[in-house]
Amino acid sequence: MITLALSKGRIFEETLPLLAAAGITVLEDPEKSRKLILPTNQPDVRVVLVRATDVPTYVEYGGADLGVTGKDTLIEHGANQDGSLRGTGLYQPLDLRIARCRVSVAVRADFDYAQAVRQGARLRVATKYPAIAREFFAAKGVHVDMVKLYGSMELAPLTGLADAIVDLVSTGNTLKANQLVEVERIMDISARLVVNQAALKLKQAPLRRIIDAFAGAVGTDYTSPEAA
Ligand code: PRP
Repeated sequence: MITLALSKGRIFEETLPLLAAAGITVLEDPEKSRKLILPTNQPDVRVVLVRATDVPTYVEYGGADLGVTGKDTLIEHGANQDGSLRGTGLYQPLDLRIARCRVSVAVRADFDYAQAVRQGARLRVATKYPAIAREFFAAKGVHVDMVKLYGSMELAPLTGLADAIVDLVSTGNTLKANQLVEVERIMDISARLVVNQAALKLKQAPLRRIIDAFAGAVGTDYTSPEAA
């Protein structure tokens, strides 16, 4: 059995065409079903639905053989800031180039971020991405107090909880709807295929077939899984 970990929403939707390239069709719609294990048209392939932040954990500990997750999530899980996975027990054979967005700093429109940085002010930053935020502000030489949140980051500057947020931005509509402005782009994000190291050895043929099909679908020159 091959188990693929996905999170609901954009990652799930944008992975479907890649699965189709591997001849795999998911037989249930996660928006309609409460099931967490979804069968596919291939009896030996199943999809498990987990929280986005749990995908690397499932794959690392073998609860899933492979998974799709954002570079942001991988970095917060312990990957290096360039997204490489050396030392984490995971293989990252492919940048799937889906679920693209960016991690940015945003503030209230009436907050003078540039001046605060110039003056060496201590910033209070609310984020779900403390590793990315800490590294970014440390490199800039800006002192920050980090406030860890799990969602609705946009609310933090509006309620006085924080001066700035570090969050994902895609269209920018969420920031605009909450009168926030993007003041720094920290990094571009896309979803990555991650694979359990032991599974790659034990189930090499079926996993290679899926990885090769994904690589073909995203147009990546790929020969063998790199121990990233
Ligand atoms: C992300 C992010 C923003 C929004 C940005 O949330 O946290 O709220 O998308 O997208 P936009 O620029 O296109 O408006 P997501 O929907 O992934 O859910 P989350 O709150 O669980 O992070």
